Amino acid sequence: MELSRCVTDADYEAWRSIRMAVLPYERCSTVEELRAQDSPDRLLLLAREGGTVVGSGLAGRGESADSAFAAPRVHPEHRRRGAGTALLLALAEHGSALGLPSLRVRVDDEGSLVFAQHFGFVEVNREVEQVRTVGDEPAPPSPPPGVEVVTASENPGLWEASFETFGREALAGFAVDTPLDITPEQWATSWAGDPMFLALHGGEVVGCAGLLRDADQAWRAENALTAVRRDWRGRGLAVHLKLRALEWASIHGLDEVYTWTQTGNDAMRSLNTRLGYTTRTTSVTVSHPLPLA
Ligand SMILES: CC(C)(COP(=O)(O)OP(=O)(O)OC[C@H]1O[C@@H](n2cnc3c(N)ncnc32)[C@H](O)[C@@H]1OP(=O)(O)O)[C@@H](O)C(=O)NCCC(=O)NCCS
Repeated sequence: MELSRCVTDADYEAWRSIRMAVLPYERCSTVEELRAQDSPDRLLLLAREGGTVVGSGLAGRGESADSAFAAPRVHPEHRRRGAGTALLLALAEHGSALGLPSLRVRVDDEGSLVFAQHFGFVEVNREVEQVRTVGDEPAPPSPPPGVEVVTASENPGLWEASFETFGREALAGFAVDTPLDITPEQWATSWAGDPMFLALHGGEVVGCAGLLRDADQAWRAENALTAVRRDWRGRGLAVHLKLRALEWASIHGLDEVYTWTQTGNDAMRSLNTRLGYTTRTTSVTVSHPLPLA
């Protein structure tokens, strides 16, 4: 088993091919998106056996406060031969070197959960994936009076500026065990959908919903963050914004939209159910103090 850092575009493409084989139901960042997120804190690894790429790994500073995250992934045809262990140990070492006290990992299947438990990881959080088939979607009813809906791309700077006035509150409201720690740069890049629909009142963002398109599977997209400012809740704004996203998906020929929500967020999950989403996958976040060994 040989582990090496991703350096060339071919390495990044090999990394993506493992990611897509292991998680076929999720969009994978493009090479360009991966390179844009590169930083000294982030480690992308490939695991090779006899020259064949059998696994890939990712580690870095997590979005949860005071945590590193790791994602060891092994191609289904090359499991139970130690690649997962080699990747996890190298990724955990990277997390320790960042000086962070704990390591978080997401697992979507029973076998991977057993693997994680074997190293002493314990469950801290759970998310469900809900999926909506896109058909002929009608235009949504009008937004509440006084609210105008625009897209972030037509209004450069608006999404970025909403971090302080809107984003911080939205992020603080997540139903998670550990508060999220998101920088303005992350808000401006990985948290922005395209399209991203923004509800404006008096020039201020009071709600958002959007889509993260899939460069490899153009027929599907993931829902980007859906959020409504506390003082604007209960007026149908989230439904309006999500229906706008579904209408956009229909006009652009998409067949499927999927979304991940914390199990503790009953409001969002029941809203999705009301809009015709059905549950597909459950993902468990597990955590372990660092160092791992
Ligand atoms: C989890 C994963 C990385 C394991 O990769 P792997 O190369 O098969 O793991 P290893 O060969 O190093 O397994 C080490 C030990 O973990 C346990 N283990 C691993 N997979 C298991 C499974 N499916 N069921 C039960 N135990 C398992 C076993 O004790 C195994 O030792 P053994 O094979 O001698 O019995 C791989 O299944 C995967 O890519 N899963 C999807 C991605 C994911 O969830 N990653 C996060 C994991 S924390």
